[in-house]
Amino acid sequence: MAHETDIPSDDDAQLQPPQDQNAAADADVSSADSMPLADDVPDHTEPTTEPVEFKVDTAQRVKRLPPYMFGRINNLLYQKRRAGEDVIDMGMGNPSDPPQQLVVDKLAEAAANPRVHGYSKSNGIQNLRREVATKYSRKYGVTLDPDEEVIVCLGSKEGFSHMCLALMGPGDTAIVPAPYFPVHTYAVALAGGNVISLEVNDSEKFLQNVAYTCQHLYPKPKLLIINYPHNPSTVTVEQGFYDEVVKLAKRYGFMVISDFAYADVAFDGYQPPSFLSSPGASDVGVEFTTMSKGYNMAGWRIGFCSGNREMIKALATIKGYYDYGMFQAVQVAAIMALRETEDAVLAQSRIYESRRNVLCEGLSRLGWDFEVPKAGMFVWARFPQEWQDQMSTMDFAMKLLEEGNVAVSPGTGFGTTGEGYLRMALVENENRLRQGVRQIKACLK
Ligand SMILES: Cc1ncc(COP(=O)(O)O)c(C=O)c1O
Repeated sequence: MAHETDIPSDDDAQLQPPQDQNAAADADVSSADSMPLADDVPDHTEPTTEPVEFKVDTAQRVKRLPPYMFGRINNLLYQKRRAGEDVIDMGMGNPSDPPQQLVVDKLAEAAANPRVHGYSKSNGIQNLRREVATKYSRKYGVTLDPDEEVIVCLGSKEGFSHMCLALMGPGDTAIVPAPYFPVHTYAVALAGGNVISLEVNDSEKFLQNVAYTCQHLYPKPKLLIINYPHNPSTVTVEQGFYDEVVKLAKRYGFMVISDFAYADVAFDGYQPPSFLSSPGASDVGVEFTTMSKGYNMAGWRIGFCSGNREMIKALATIKGYYDYGMFQAVQVAAIMALRETEDAVLAQSRIYESRRNVLCEGLSRLGWDFEVPKAGMFVWARFPQEWQDQMSTMDFAMKLLEEGNVAVSPGTGFGTTGEGYLRMALVENENRLRQGVRQIKACLK
């Protein structure tokens, strides 16, 4: 009997985006070749002026991007690695544990099938979308139509960015939580929109500020971006928060994108709620989930967008022009992971929980100030005031790397509200985290 994760049916394996999108995307829009030239058009093969100095002039959307703040840290980390130095790396939230072996085996098996190597569907194969809907139903009690309310993305970051492109343009404003995960701001900026950042640390105040902004800004914000468990601040919310978001969205007419990247990584019995579980959420918004974090499949680039069908259709339209979908063997293995490895996802959470305990104990011993996170892959800690008085957050992070061989993300990489904070990722094992704390202590002596 064919296993349902096996190579998709013909229905799934349609190789092209929907016909109308494809036709439009492939059309010869300018038809410049066939444009007749007038007899008196001058011959451009002979130069008539002095050559100009050639310059690559990027588009305004690139020029208006905020500066990339992690460049200095990344460059030094790279140099140290090349020099063979052992750096305790708590910089990026890049999982260091492998996915389950049966998922890797399924990828190899699927890749051996000659039928999977053509273009896939840009919105993902149906069996994978169905599996995502099944997980939402099982875990959050949310019913989704896999054909119109779920789309597969090349990682949630790609999906999120293209969703912003589908929804936002010049003159449009998005509310983004501060401190911000960089793409939440950059994707809006790249789409030509403007950003208003509202502090995320007090959830009640955040909602009040959303309402206040809607009452006073003209034109009103078009989009609210939320992200809980929040990266980098680790703030979490309960379902009631999302109920209020839906009410506000309906009152003021803004759309909502919930970035639920850390849905599967939670501690102490806490279960992060889904925005889509709130009544009416699918009327106003969508939610992104990913296999990067809980499933240790970050390099595979598998994300999903679920919820409001018109927003999903808009994303599907953009993706229909830009990509031909994910390698089908990856999608088949992803079905296997979603269906068969839920226990391993829970076990991975326990690993992050133990690492969190080790790092928090170590930072407490150093006298640092932080909230113990209930979810996510980070500790968001204030470094001591005596050091804040002496140097910027960026310089402090550079000092830890230069002198202590410990890489962390400076809080200012997530906007100005991150001044005084460091984000420390739980991607090293417990012994190395202990070692990292010892190196920080030694470096600050
Ligand atoms: C809040 C948040 N959203 C999205 C992503 C990107 O996830 P993906 O690997 O699915 O693109 C990350 C990754 O660090 C993240 O922290």
